[in-house]
Amino acid sequence: MPQIRFLGHSCVTITEGNHKLIVDPFLNDNPLSPVKADDIDVNYILLTHGHGDHLGDAVSIGKRCKATVIANFELATYCGKQGLEFHPMHIGGSHDFDFGRVKLTIAHHGGGYGPDASIYTGPATGMLVFIGGKTIYHAGDTGLFYDMKLIGEMNKIDLAFVPIGDNFTMGITDAVKAVEFLNPVKVVPIHYNTWPPIEANANEFAARVKKAETVILNPGDTLDI
Ligand code: NI
Ligand code: MN
Repeated sequence: MPQIRFLGHSCVTITEGNHKLIVDPFLNDNPLSPVKADDIDVNYILLTHGHGDHLGDAVSIGKRCKATVIANFELATYCGKQGLEFHPMHIGGSHDFDFGRVKLTIAHHGGGYGPDASIYTGPATGMLVFIGGKTIYHAGDTGLFYDMKLIGEMNKIDLAFVPIGDNFTMGITDAVKAVEFLNPVKVVPIHYNTWPPIEANANEFAARVKKAETVILNPGDTLDI
């Protein structure tokens, strides 16, 4: 049974036995993160896209832990150039790893790194992670898209992470519709309250989600699925 820990913004860890994964490790510059990059011990780093609030501390964590980066081709290759182990994939593709399977899904969003976002890191993605008999969907940063319905039809999602903070991603109204499309057992809102432009009321989101169980995790909280 995988254990989830939310570390603020879009960062979550997924632990299953000896397998330790982190998604979008934005920690040291994250005002809400309860931990620092040096506290992290993982085998794999999954990146939804190259924006600084997602690539985050991947390079330092990857070097120290000798962790493998899993991401779209351009972003994975960029991480390789920084000296990290990497496994490149792309949208629609899936691959079996020792911990389980990962499939990259579309996301409607950008993908540039650096102070002026000029380093090309490919398109943003979402991710399906199949681990310990469970199916986890991390939407990354994205606007609402109708193919979420297809993702929900083709996968029995146990847990979905969806952004609700608006401005850069879906806001609450669109995220509620996303949950309808995805039809997960549980949903955890992410990418909100980190900074003023993405302030959102997770309780309002929870009240408006009808079919799924909304689990509001504070940074540092864990969840067994
Ligand atoms: Ni982004
Ligand atoms: Mn973001």
